[in-house]
Amino acid sequence: MAETILNEREGRVAILTINRPDKLNALNEQVRTDLLAALAEIEHDAGVGVVVLTGAGEKSFIAGADIGEFAGRSPFDQREAMKSPRIFDVMSSFPKPVIAMINGFCLGGGCELSASCDLRIASDKARFGQPEINLGLIPGGGGTQRLPRLIGLGQTLRLVLTGDMIGAAEAKEIGLVEMVVPHEELRAKTLELAGKMASKSPLTLRVAKEAVRASWKLPIEDGISYERDLFCLCFSTEDKKEGVEAFLEKRPPQWKGR
Ligand code: COA
Repeated sequence: MAETILNEREGRVAILTINRPDKLNALNEQVRTDLLAALAEIEHDAGVGVVVLTGAGEKSFIAGADIGEFAGRSPFDQREAMKSPRIFDVMSSFPKPVIAMINGFCLGGGCELSASCDLRIASDKARFGQPEINLGLIPGGGGTQRLPRLIGLGQTLRLVLTGDMIGAAEAKEIGLVEMVVPHEELRAKTLELAGKMASKSPLTLRVAKEAVRASWKLPIEDGISYERDLFCLCFSTEDKKEGVEAFLEKRPPQWKGR
């Protein structure tokens, strides 16, 4: 059986490719299980600083949940299929930065998974949407909660209530992706971005992600206080000592990840 997740390395960047191109990389049970296993392995791999998530083939990033699995399911079956850990939550709390490299259709659970990543870089051919309404469903991968925080209430409601698809330029305009690049340059531009992040201290990347992510759940005063605690915690690391000394000595820092 073909592997559902391809797991490659490019320097300190791990590239995870969902490999069901004949089904537009729809997320089925096997893909979800294999993606969680790949992430668990990467989490403890000190050689990986940044993760890139993409879809196989020229046409699709992820065309959503595998609709075939929904047929004949009871609410209890569905509840079981949605038990923790869920890929969306694992992605958003993953201790290394995750970049969604969006190479085509980015729909439903695919759009929700991209919204769970830290950054989104899209091909100019990519198409986005939350088409669940057309199936008598609503988004179930955090779309009704994460998207409003990313693109606002109005744009989320537009996508969720119409099921319409939008192109990459519009996705960038509303903040659904951070960068759009020509299709043929997507991999090179993504690896450039990922490589830049992967060259930083992995420890500091982790703390920085945690601080920014905390803004989604904490009231502003608590968030500011949490940021100050994490900032001060950085003063206990060898990498802070090295970063400051390297600046003062006018040389590049040598990160240790400690
Ligand atoms: N679940 C299961 N299979 C899917 C799928 C999904 N979400 N999205 C696409 N596929 C399958 C198609 O059934 C088809 O399989 P087949 O060749 O065995 O018939 C194959 O992928 C290619 O898709 P196809 O529809 O022929 O491509 P297209 O270019 O004509 O249309 C889309 C592309 C994305 C517009 C269309 O596939 C689509 O609407 N997909 C569903 C999107 C969706 O509703 N996602 C949310 C799910 S909750």
